[in-house]
Amino acid sequence: MYSKEELLSGLKTSVVGKKIFVFESIDSTNTCAKTLAESAVEEGSVVFSEYQTDGRGRFGRSWLSEPGQNLLFSAILRPPLQQEQAGLLTFYAAVSVVRALEGFTQLQLECKWPNDVLIGGKKCCGILLENSFSNNRLEHSVVGVGVNVNQNAFPDNGLSNATSLARELEKKIDRKKLFQHILRELDLLYDDVQHGNFSRILQEWNMRCNMFGRKVQILREGATTNGKALGLHVDGGLVVETSGGREIVYAGDVTVLS
Ligand code: BTN
Repeated sequence: MYSKEELLSGLKTSVVGKKIFVFESIDSTNTCAKTLAESAVEEGSVVFSEYQTDGRGRFGRSWLSEPGQNLLFSAILRPPLQQEQAGLLTFYAAVSVVRALEGFTQLQLECKWPNDVLIGGKKCCGILLENSFSNNRLEHSVVGVGVNVNQNAFPDNGLSNATSLARELEKKIDRKKLFQHILRELDLLYDDVQHGNFSRILQEWNMRCNMFGRKVQILREGATTNGKALGLHVDGGLVVETSGGREIVYAGDVTVLS
């Protein structure tokens, strides 16, 4: 298990990772980070754990991860954003992770709407953003990141085809170095976020998304919608051309059909 000192040693960031809380096991780093955020903990604080007993994904799904093999952490941020822009934080997190993973592994990664990072169509990272608002303004955001790093086997949950960096590269990865790399990228792009400037982030995200112009199927609350994915709406929603006209989708699982 890494100590707080190890994770902090050599880390050069100005906001993200200023403080790190390290656990061997915890229910969920997002749950812990939310509690800390509500108790006014310093912005940029990060909760890191080697294992989660109740790791959470989107739509209340479980996020399963073998102990000591992967990266599981949540960062607490308080950028001065209006509610309409807060959904864009998911793209900020995805682009930061992708930049770090690509730089570290030389693998080519893809972004899948809204918040997955894939290698060759298989999921290697999930992001869970939990925002809290007051009067239409963002109070705090918990950016939860789970990266499959050294785990080799993944239970087939029928939903996602998962992989890890080690599986793709056929070698073990230094998790501490990778963790610091991700925090550095989060920190580098954070200046743009604080100024509400998401253009570079969205441009990089769009570059790595191969869904636009293609036929997709969206599964939402048991209902399916078919259409053509056109691009991102200004608030991060997915614009889809359906038989009934244009729709902006805010939640759901997307499959590219052709
Ligand atoms: C998803 O793909 O549905 C999002 C998965 C997010 C998992 C990470 S692991 C660290 C953090 N703590 C959690 O409970 N969830 C996020």
